[in-house]
This record gives sequence, structure tokens and C-alpha cells, in this order.
Amino acid sequence: MKIELFEMERMQSTWENVVDIDLSESGVRAVSLRELVELGFDLTGVLDTPLSYSQGNGTVELRQLLSRHYTGSSIDHIEVTNGTSEANFIVSLNLIREGDEVAMELPNYMQMWGLTRSLGATIRTFRLRSDNAWVPDWKEFDEALNEKTRVLYLSNPNNPTGRVLSRKDMERIVQRCDEMGTWLLADEVYQGAELNCGRTPSFWGMSDRVIVTNGLSKAYGIPGVRIGWIVGPRAVVQECWTQHDYTTICPNKISDVIARTAVHPDNREKLFARTRAILREQLPIISEWVSSFDGLLEVSEPEAGAFCLIQYKSDLSSAELAERIRVNQSTLIVPGSQLRLENCFRLWFGGPREKLLEGLRRIRTELNQIL
Ligand SMILES: Cc1ncc(COP(=O)(O)O)c(C=O)c1O
Repeated sequence: MKIELFEMERMQSTWENVVDIDLSESGVRAVSLRELVELGFDLTGVLDTPLSYSQGNGTVELRQLLSRHYTGSSIDHIEVTNGTSEANFIVSLNLIREGDEVAMELPNYMQMWGLTRSLGATIRTFRLRSDNAWVPDWKEFDEALNEKTRVLYLSNPNNPTGRVLSRKDMERIVQRCDEMGTWLLADEVYQGAELNCGRTPSFWGMSDRVIVTNGLSKAYGIPGVRIGWIVGPRAVVQECWTQHDYTTICPNKISDVIARTAVHPDNREKLFARTRAILREQLPIISEWVSSFDGLLEVSEPEAGAFCLIQYKSDLSSAELAERIRVNQSTLIVPGSQLRLENCFRLWFGGPREKLLEGLRRIRTELNQIL
């Protein structure tokens, strides 16, 4: 298998630590080790931990804690991975074969786009409709998902729209997957990053064809430890472990310990509350900024997630716009084109406030010349 370039990730990994201001991120600003110590993380305890290999599928302690968040699951339903991206990767390696069909909602995080194509499968897409509050286009959905569809991939809450599926829509999706014998791969990494609505329900438990992936990177605010997980039927999870033996063998030992602090039910709620507070405080900055452009910009405010989509009125492609802003203003945004959208860009508002304000000031300087 030759893996194709993941355009957005490469753009981010090339520039995010080089530019003055990075507004291309998607999670809430990262938690420090000190904050984790305040939540009970035993920093001095890890000083004596031998840096041996950790348990390949995640320590029993961590999987026990995780299983508390997925009713009816046990440690055998869970595989701990190096980030949600490895979780998606090994589920794909396990399930997708050359010639298979994979259905995918768009816009979306494009990892599964590149992976599916690299594995030799065909992608059938359906849109979340910008003219209908990002509800799936059900006609396209029914066409995309048929008896040949091996896997359906979606992110809920969705990156980049920040939309959360209604319970009714979730049921409709699960029912169709059941009817077609399709695996539903639900990437729930933004669960817990809701601004005003209640907690996004998990697809877990809605059918025995559901596989959930999640991780610490977004709603928990801990991307740097690279911990993710898969929750699925025992047999599938066992097979995923087989792939894991080839990719990274095991999660990082210290990360597994940190994750135990983060996913402990009390701490999880505290971390999600921290996320919500930051997002609620900072989204109005974006709304005000957008309205000061007198209709030349329009923002699609997320229900969850630390990013929003901003539509602009100009013939300039989103790729050119983002490149101009990077080169002239040393500020990084995600062009819509990298998310299969046009005339828009994705903006991160979950970072440090001063950086956000300065980034917006710089983007305005550029937009004033373009719009
Ligand atoms: C929907 C989605 N899934 C997975 C990832 C990757 O997450 P992780 O850092 O946990 O590997 C991202 C990152 O932006 C994402 O948006």
C-alpha cells in the first residue's frame, strides 16, 4: 500500500510551529502537566516508573476507566492507541480491502479519505448541507450507502462544521448500516467539546455494527500525549490489536498513566468544563469580528469543537487566500479546499486569547485588500 499525502496534516506539520500565529488547530488549548497534577496526576510517582514497553492494547486500569464511559462495554471491547488517528488507521487496516466501497460524509476530517483510497477502496460521499444547518443530504446518503458498503465513516461532532447529529439522525444512520451490513466507524473525538448543547451521545451500543474511536486530543485538551482508543465488538477489537502490533506495538507508557488521570470520570467532567468555558468565552470574539466585515464574511457557528467555518465573498480560491495570509501575515488557517469546501476557511478559536486577537487582526489586514 502506498499512502497518499494528507494535505491538511502536512500543511499543519510543515507550518504550525514556524508561523507566528497558528489558527489552524481544532482542539481546545492544551492542558499543562501542572494542571494534570492539580487533578491528581502523580508526577513524582512517574519518576520511578521504568520506561519499559506498556501493555500493547492499553493497561487494564486505563481500559477499565474507559469502559465506564461506554455502557455495556468491558476491557475486551477497548483498544488503546496512539491518538485517534492511529485508532482510525488500524480499524481501516482491519476492515477495508481493495475493491471495497466506503461511504463518508463531507465535509470531514480527511484522514479516512486518503486512507481508503490508499487501501484501494472506492469512496462514496454524501454531503452535510450548508443550506440546511449541516443536516445530511438523505438522498445522497441512501445512494452512498448500499449493500456493497463495507464501512461508513463519520465524525460526530463533525469536523469542520461543528454540527452534532440529532438522536433521530443517528438512529436513521445506524438502521441503514444494519440493513446494508455496513460497519459504522464513528469518530467521536470532539465529544465533550459542546458549547451550549448537552453531551453528544455516543453511537456505542446502538447496534453491534458500531465501532467508535475517540482520544484525548480535542475535548480533553491533551493532544501531546497521543492517546486514543477504539471501542467495538470484542472480535473486531481483537483483530485491531493484530494491526496495532505492526504499527506502534503499544501506547507510550507515561501517556497511559496520564490518560488514567484524564479519563477518570471526575476529571473528565472537569476537563470538559474547562473546554466549554474557553469555547463559550472565545466564540463571541469570532462572531463580533465577522460582523464587523458588513456582510462580506459569514460564520457558521459550531455546536461543538474549537473551530468555525468562515465563508467569504471573493473569487480568490481558499488555497490562495490561506497562502497569502501565511506568507504575508505569518498566520496559519485551514483553506476550505483541504476539507472539500470552497470560498471558506476553518478558523481555530480555542487557543490563547491574545494569539487569537492578534491572528484576527492580521487576517483582517489581508482580507481588507482582498474583499
Ligand atoms: C475528526 C478527527 N479525528 C481524528 C483526529 C486526529 O486526532 P488525534 O490527535 O487524536 O490523532 C482529528 C484531528 O484533527 C480529527 O479532527
